[in-house]
Amino acid sequence: MNTPFAYGKLPQEIDFTNREKEMTRLKNNFNSGVNTIIISPRRWGKTSLVKLASLSAIKENKKLKIVHLDIFNIRSEYEFYLLLANEVLKATSSGWDDLVKNTRLFLKQLMPQISFSPDKQSNISFSIGWEQLQKSPDDILNLAENIAIKKDLNIIICIDEFQNIALFEHPDTFQRKLRAHWQTHQKTAYCLYGSKQHMLLDVFSNYAMPFYKFGDIMFLEKIPTADWVSFIQKRFTDTKKEISPAEAERIAVLADNHSYYVQQLAQQVWFRTGKRSTPEIVENAFEDIINQLSLLFVNVTDSLSKRQLSFLEAILNNEKQLTSKATLAKYNLGTSATVIQLRKRLIELDIIDEIQGRIQFLDPMYKHWLATRYFNIHW
Ligand SMILES: Nc1ncnc2c1ncn2[C@@H]1O[C@H](COP(=O)(O)OP(=O)(O)OP(=O)(O)O)[C@@H](O)[C@H]1O
Ligand SMILES: [Mg+2]
Repeated sequence: MNTPFAYGKLPQEIDFTNREKEMTRLKNNFNSGVNTIIISPRRWGKTSLVKLASLSAIKENKKLKIVHLDIFNIRSEYEFYLLLANEVLKATSSGWDDLVKNTRLFLKQLMPQISFSPDKQSNISFSIGWEQLQKSPDDILNLAENIAIKKDLNIIICIDEFQNIALFEHPDTFQRKLRAHWQTHQKTAYCLYGSKQHMLLDVFSNYAMPFYKFGDIMFLEKIPTADWVSFIQKRFTDTKKEISPAEAERIAVLADNHSYYVQQLAQQVWFRTGKRSTPEIVENAFEDIINQLSLLFVNVTDSLSKRQLSFLEAILNNEKQLTSKATLAKYNLGTSATVIQLRKRLIELDIIDEIQGRIQFLDPMYKHWLATRYFNIHW
């Protein structure tokens, strides 16, 4: 039987809970051409939200086309332009003929070449060199807008893992170029999102940066426990199994309401449940997930310095004043300047982040492992 819980892949509507407010806000932005920026830590549900909002929006609005790019693996400006051109053309063309026609029409200057792979995927490349393209990327940066005008469409370009542009060679110049083009667009809007909160905040809320005030910034929050409880119970009853509200709540709490882990833990509990789940099943499933992740957590921990670990220990012990004399001495953290450095570095390493004014672990399972199995803190 198929499991009623899904993680690590995009949820179908049936696997998706809550987020009504965010869906509405995002769809309104799509329909009215407002740029959106979505920021949340890893695996809370950004990609799922954008994909499901897109599906629903295009169903309701026939003039709307949504282009999805994931730039996780994109390492340079040139690769970015190629991907953008390819995806925009694919999403807005009605078939091969149209794609070939549009490529010739809109990207003529770049001397495009189109190849088709055996699985009939098209791939557009350019004969002009990088030097030349870099000087005048206008045709590509305005491609969506030009197509939208010509075909009377509204286009949304969604770019996942957008923070990666900060790693390109001349990030400021590149960002200025993007913004200069994109802000003139009337029929194309952008939805930019990613998981590196500190990098994205620098791109979008630092007034010295080109993308300052580019659009509506949404901070995705965790799904509340009550929603998880009804979701988990429903998925159990739909598949003729039972789980009590207390056990469903325990799943959400153990996974710290983290979307991916709630689904993973719920799935493990479901697998072990014959007809009715029990509190022991929930605890055992949780311990098993922690065990499976142990090796990974050992490696992460080995890569941290003694002081970084002491800093994490202080957070796990809920020390409120990390730079107070007493805390510095108790955990041997050095000076308050060292603490600031430690914090910064651990944020860069994606171990912690400041969320709603509080320093928090990004991975609740790692937090649990570190506290209970490494520092032996009574939890
Ligand atoms: N609204 C939701 N309801 C139920 N489960 C969800 C929801 N949103 C996300 N999930 C679960 O969380 C998992 C991770 O979601 P998703 O990949 O969308 O997160 P993300 O923020 O894009 O992660 P990453 O930072 O790794 O790109 C999904 O596979 C799904 O199992
Ligand atoms: Mg994602």
